[in-house]
Amino acid sequence: MEIRALRAGDDRSRFQSGDPDLDRFFHKFAGQNQFKHYVGVTYVAVADGRIVGFATIAPGHVEIEGLPAAARKRLPRYPLPVLRLARLAVDQSAQGQGLGTQLLRFVLQLAMRMANDYGCIGVVVDAKADAVDFYAKYGFIPVEAVEGQSDARPGPTPMFLSMHAIEAALRTRDSTGG
Ligand SMILES: CC(C)(COP(=O)(O)OP(=O)(O)OC[C@H]1O[C@@H](n2cnc3c(N)ncnc32)[C@H](O)[C@@H]1OP(=O)(O)O)[C@@H](O)C(=O)NCCC(=O)NCCS
Repeated sequence: MEIRALRAGDDRSRFQSGDPDLDRFFHKFAGQNQFKHYVGVTYVAVADGRIVGFATIAPGHVEIEGLPAAARKRLPRYPLPVLRLARLAVDQSAQGQGLGTQLLRFVLQLAMRMANDYGCIGVVVDAKADAVDFYAKYGFIPVEAVEGQSDARPGPTPMFLSMHAIEAALRTRDSTGG
């Protein structure tokens, strides 16, 4: 299995994660977003010549209020650079085999590179309700609801993983050789 940037000639049409929005994005928009509009880059996991997972990222920024309270300490009050994990999905045929974790780890390595080359305080993701526990497992912290928003409001949960947590996560795995 290889993780690499999407190529214009890749066949995206057979990918099915089971989430219609994610699949539609991948089939219709991932290519033009990357090759025509340059608004983000999609990395694909390829096994036996077939795409079995993808992660789409774009650099972004957050205001300090958009971070969990615990992550705000000592940060300046101007917009802060982050890597945004815009989408992550694994083909149904490959779910539950560790591929989502591998793609996420790949994204954390990109964030580390961004931190070293350009500045990046962490990774943000708008987690769908079904995926909040997945991200929480890797240390992502939900950003507290902004005043005036109702907890009952359905919709994605913004979550954040700091660069310090990313460094620690990558170090731990590296030291165990995993
Ligand atoms: C969510 C998704 C990306 C996870 O990828 P995956 O390859 O199936 O996950 P992994 O095999 O790497 O799972 C790693 C761990 O997370 C757990 N996990 C997987 N999906 C989970 C979920 N939705 N909620 C909570 N835990 C989850 C697994 O049980 C596993 O735990 P374990 O290590 O204790 O056994 C994938 O199932 C998927 O594409 N789902 C549909 C689309 C989606 O919801 N994407 C996220 C949108 S924000």
